[in-house]
Amino acid sequence: MNKKIIIKNGTVVNYNEASKSDILLFEGKIQKMAKNINFSDAEIIDAEGKYIFPGGIDPHVHFNLQTFAGFTADNFITGSQAAFSGGTTTVIDFVTPEKNESLISALQKRRKEAEKSLVNVFFHVSPISWSKNTAKEMEQCVNEYGIKSFKVYTAYKNSIGTSDADLLKILEVAKKLKVLITVHCETEEIINFMRQKYLSAGKTTPKYHPLSRPSIAEAEAINRVIRFAEIIDTPIYIVHVSTKEGIEIIEQAQNRGVKVFAETCPHYLLLNDEVYNQPFNEASKYVLSPPIRKKADSLALWRAIQKGVIQTIGTDHCSFNIKGQKDKGISDFTKIANGAGSVEHRLCLLYTYGVLQNKISLKKMVELVSWQPAKIFGLSDRKGLIKAGYDADIVIWNPNKENIISHKTHKQNCDNNIYEGFKIRGEAERINK
Ligand code: URP
Ligand code: ZN
Ligand code: ZN
Repeated sequence: MNKKIIIKNGTVVNYNEASKSDILLFEGKIQKMAKNINFSDAEIIDAEGKYIFPGGIDPHVHFNLQTFAGFTADNFITGSQAAFSGGTTTVIDFVTPEKNESLISALQKRRKEAEKSLVNVFFHVSPISWSKNTAKEMEQCVNEYGIKSFKVYTAYKNSIGTSDADLLKILEVAKKLKVLITVHCETEEIINFMRQKYLSAGKTTPKYHPLSRPSIAEAEAINRVIRFAEIIDTPIYIVHVSTKEGIEIIEQAQNRGVKVFAETCPHYLLLNDEVYNQPFNEASKYVLSPPIRKKADSLALWRAIQKGVIQTIGTDHCSFNIKGQKDKGISDFTKIANGAGSVEHRLCLLYTYGVLQNKISLKKMVELVSWQPAKIFGLSDRKGLIKAGYDADIVIWNPNKENIISHKTHKQNCDNNIYEGFKIRGEAERINK
């Protein structure tokens, strides 16, 4: 950005305060904030009646992810365009090595893929199993590539999942390196047992997806992983918490002094498991893991947000088309491509169904979608805040725009949308990155 830009008359909303201020942007940075800024050579943007948010940071997306059903529908180009249009200027994606591939080689490849992105991209790196090189490679990721967090999965053990024994070793390395381990918590053994039970009884439709991944599978894994983190005495971050049972375990751990962070996603707040009682093409859209839960779970998650038990809201954006991807599981729900996209709609959904329904304040929304992800993942010296010296990642939010979400008009490169027909208010009218 070579030209000076002055945003005038808007209400700047940070996580800790909201007030009117002009903002001077130049050379990719916020240069100055004051009541009345004027430069004759600057572009002036009048933001009267609008909010100015720090750019959204989505701590959990999967762009260009290779799966058994092919690559995700969104790659770094389309996914980042969708993110940007919705007010997200930074995403944190994942580096998942092939079996026996080094973390460094996988990280280098992924960084190359991400060069096409329109938004800032950072990575969580996944040490999918333990080898004699893992500790060294983790150290290299941190010291040479600036990685702040790693990701392990207690599910998906036939591909990317980590054993308990390996997880303990990975936690110990993370403690030494002072970085965070993020964890997908579902107990593989329970899921496999339930899946086999349903499939062998001829129960193959999408409604058996949530039944084969019960709340207790999440709660059991969350409890175990927290206990591991407690033994090693290192902080931990639980991704996409979906259940009342799970969040209660996290709250108890926080109350006894364990440093455990929690993330949830809009779909666990706004949808419920009735979505699975529909024909295949509709129900399969919601086959994602952990599955969509009951209304009581959503209520518990909203309460946990209000109490500060949950720190972040990410999307787990992982989009697949129905045609050729979801429909691989037409006669076996375990073969349905797992995941859904929503990177484009995180802010407007939270604004409409959180802020406007008095579940959270505007400052809390900014905290959940920008400040806390920045703080937890080591970016808060330059992102997540509108302040002189910070990156010029800025969203001008028009609170009066109304839209209806549809796959026919969304930017996501995908033939379906799990929020089809949702009415939304608020729009990222102008975004700077
Ligand atoms: O269903 C999902 N969430 N797919 C993406 C991978 C994961 O578990 O986060
Ligand atoms: Zn996951
Ligand atoms: Zn994910």
